[in-house]
This record gives sequence, structure tokens and C-alpha cells, in this order.
Amino acid sequence: MSKEINILNSNRSEVSDNESLKQLEFIEKAKVYVSDLEKELGRKPTACVVTFGCQMNARDSEKLLAILKLVGYEETESEKADFVIYNTCTVRDNADQRVLGRLGACSNHKKKNPHMKIAICGCMMQEQSAVEKIQKSYRFVDLIFGTHNIYKFAELLCTCLESDRMIIDIWKETDKIVEDLPVLRKYPFKSGVNIMFGCNNFCTYCIVPYVRGRERSRSPKDIIRECEKLVADGVKEVMLLGQNVNSYSNDFADNDPNKITFPQLLEEVCKVEGLERVRFMTPHPKDFSDELLDVIGRNPKIARHIHLPLQSGSTEILRRMNRKYTKDQYLELVDKIRNKLPDVAITTDIIVGFPGETPADVDETIDVVKKAQFDNAFTFIYSKRTGTPAAGFADQVPEKEVKENFDRLLKVVQETARVQSEKMTGMSADVLVESVNDQDASLVTGRMSNNTLVHFPGDESLIGEIVKVKLSECHGFYFSGERV
Ligand code: SAH
Ligand code: SF4
Ligand code: F3S
Repeated sequence: MSKEINILNSNRSEVSDNESLKQLEFIEKAKVYVSDLEKELGRKPTACVVTFGCQMNARDSEKLLAILKLVGYEETESEKADFVIYNTCTVRDNADQRVLGRLGACSNHKKKNPHMKIAICGCMMQEQSAVEKIQKSYRFVDLIFGTHNIYKFAELLCTCLESDRMIIDIWKETDKIVEDLPVLRKYPFKSGVNIMFGCNNFCTYCIVPYVRGRERSRSPKDIIRECEKLVADGVKEVMLLGQNVNSYSNDFADNDPNKITFPQLLEEVCKVEGLERVRFMTPHPKDFSDELLDVIGRNPKIARHIHLPLQSGSTEILRRMNRKYTKDQYLELVDKIRNKLPDVAITTDIIVGFPGETPADVDETIDVVKKAQFDNAFTFIYSKRTGTPAAGFADQVPEKEVKENFDRLLKVVQETARVQSEKMTGMSADVLVESVNDQDASLVTGRMSNNTLVHFPGDESLIGEIVKVKLSECHGFYFSGERV
């Protein structure tokens, strides 16, 4: 007899209109199970959420943690907890490998603590091969679900606590967004806010459209309502999240009153009283509008930071990546941003080793880095993702050549980033204090509007405050300073 309860479901009408109420009932039910467990253990059961990947996953994890705490678990960072859940990423292979390593270690904890429950969810679970691997080689996992049905975590948790079989519930797709679920923020003073889910761009290297589905935008009123609630709850900074925020509302019908552009949405968010800083991530260069630049220009609440993924500086590679812009178009956009908004920091993502990339293509990328003078760049080695078009491209680049190109690029990236940050030495900036410094408890650490980190003397009481700091000394990627 199979040990799995396999609920493979792609039926979109499955999501009921009062889904959030239904989930609240499951929370009540799970409370009883957790309270029974507490009596049995003679202590409060603990839960640990381990997150991989991007800001979207981080936000999803806040929803998972909220439910776990509501039903009675105590949060812990230890993977020896009574309930451990891995929220996975599969954008590059090393993310997959990391989670499997952690999962393996977790099985040892379960041997000592047999009532322990282990769950795994997120982007990697939308890949059939990954689920099959867990089913076969990680038999101790109790619950597997994907990205489309994360809203029913309370329900799945109940099923998991009722059963000692492996529960698997993966949906192929969804066109629904479930609003009003509980969420517990990691930081009291800042929060991510999803404005849309999924991606329609199908860059040829990227797995995200396959594991996150098509673009679905939230209505402006739900977004504004969430921002207002966050502010009432002490939040000073929000980050609007989407794989390509510039295509916000493209999925709404033309006659839908909710159909407003991303810049219009940004302006509405800026009107939320008490909100002090608004960030957004990620804008795709192919449809970055002048309207967006105007809105950033006239709204001081919008952070002076634009993350503008380049991926490659070679027009031919960009074409094969399906990025829909050329090297020159990208550079023109950077010029426009620098001219209109001289105080904005521009950061980027770059991939090295895309199939067919030659050292001359990498020279083009290096040329863009020098011309654009990025304030920071995240450089990634191309990772072949099964199921994406690029995985089938014939001319995969040998590892040694990729490494050489990567090192060459990294040197230039670090140099331009250093030159860019040094420009601010001696200036003052508003810094949102995030934490007491890890290394030196007499210092606190915060972020400037352009996202640069600053360390300066202060104590815990400053956390969540925006304070003026003089940027005395630049240390490459961060500043040390003092309050003014
Ligand atoms: N939607 C965002 C990116 C999300 S993924 C955008 O378009 O910019 C974050 C970054 O991971 C990408 O910008 C890209 O640089 C990198 N990435 C995505 N797929 C990758 C792959 N197969 N190999 C290496 N890096 C990858
Ligand atoms: Fe991936 Fe491209 Fe979509 Fe970004 S825009 S998530 S890189 S497919
Ligand atoms: Fe990773 Fe999924 Fe984000 S694949 S980068 S966690 S959308």
C-alpha cells in the first residue's frame, strides 16, 4: 500500500470565495492538536521556518510562521524543532543542493524526536522531478506542497498532524489570489508587499515562470489596504514585490477600473499617511517607462534605488535570453535614469556562462558595467534548469572558461561599486535603523534610501527609527558614520 496521500490538483475552481474564513477554521482545529502535543511533551512545541530564495519567498515564510505561531508553536531558529518547514528556491542548482543537504541533516533530528514533523514547500516543489526525489530518497518528510496552494497551509498542517503518512499536495497552476490571511512580519518596521505573483516573460534561462505560474496582479485597493494596515502596525518602509513590477495590472481587462499602471500604483502607495519609504523590486528594463521616472522624481518617499537586472551586456546573448532589449537600449535607459535622478543608486543582476557566451560577449558585459557605473551588482554563474529553453541550447560553456570570465567581471564590478559608494563620503543621509550591529554591540546598522548599509554608534532604542547620519568613512559596500 502506498504511504502517500497524493492530492495532485490543478482544478482552479477549488479555491472558494470565503477561503480565508475556511483557513481560520483550520487554525482553530490545529490549535487543539498542538495543545494536545504540548500536554504530551510537557512543554510548548517549537517550529522553525527555513527560507531560501527571493523576497517573495521571504514574504511567504512570514505567512507560514504566522500560522505556526497562531496554532501554538513557539518560534525557534533550530532545525531540531518539533515542526520544521523548508521554503525552497530552485532558481539555481546550488539552491536545490543546499536544501537537500539541510533536509538530510534534519532526518537525524527526527530519529531522536520521532513525533517531529518535517515539511517542504516553495518553488522547488513545483518541479515534478524534485518531488519524486523526496518521495524516493527522503521518506521521512511528512508534508510537501507547492507555491500555488500555500494559502491553505493551515489545512495541510491539520492533515499532517492527523496522519503519519506523507502528504503531497501540488497544484499545476492557479488564477486565484487569496487575501486576508494571517502574516507575521520578521521586522516590525519594514515589510514586503506583494503586488503581483508569477511571471510571463520566459527568459530562456529562468525557471520562475514554470514554478510561479502566470502573472496575477492584486487589486490596488487590496494593496493600499495592506499598506495602511502595516503603517498602523508600526511599519515605516514597504517594498512592493513582483517579478516584473512594470507589467503590474497587464492581466486586468481593459475596462477593469482596477487597471492602473505601476507608476500610478506607486503614487497611490506614497499617499498612505505615515509611510516613510517605498521600495520596489524588480522592474524589467524592457518596459521601464518615463512615467515611472517622473513618479520617482516627484515622490521623495520612493527610495533612491533602482534594481535593474542587466543579465548580459551582449545584444546577441540578450536576444537568446529573450530579454527583449539590446545593449544600447539598456545603456540609454541608465543614462536617462542618471540624468533625471542623479541621486538614485542603480544595482543589477548579471549571469555569466549562458550557453554560447564567448569572452567577447563578456567584454560587452564588462563594458556596460563600466559605462553604467553600477552601485552594486549580483553576479551569478549560469545554472542549467531542466525544462527551460536554454537547457537545450547546444553550446554550454566549459566550467573553466566560465570561471575565468566570472572572475574578470567580478573585478570590474567591485571596482565600480567602490568608486560609486565613495562619492557619498562626507555627506549626510537618512538611515532607517534595522538592528544592533552583529560584531560590535555599541553600533547599530541601518540602510540609506539608496540601500547602502551604514554602521554608527547607537543602541537598540533606535531600531525602526529614521535618523540623520554623517557618512564619515566608506568601506567598500558600507559606511561607518555618526548621528548629526
Ligand atoms: N524577475 C527578476 C529576477 C528573478 S530571479 C528579473 O527579471 O530581474 C533573480 C536573478 O537570478 C535573475 O535576475 C538572474 O540574474 C538570476 N538567475 C535566474 N535564473 C538563473 C539561472 N538559470 N542561472 C543563473 N542565474 C539565474
Ligand atoms: Fe525569470 Fe525573466 Fe521572469 Fe525575471 S523576468 S522571473 S528572469 S523569466
Ligand atoms: Fe527562487 Fe522561487 Fe524566488 S525560484 S528566486 S524563490 S520565485
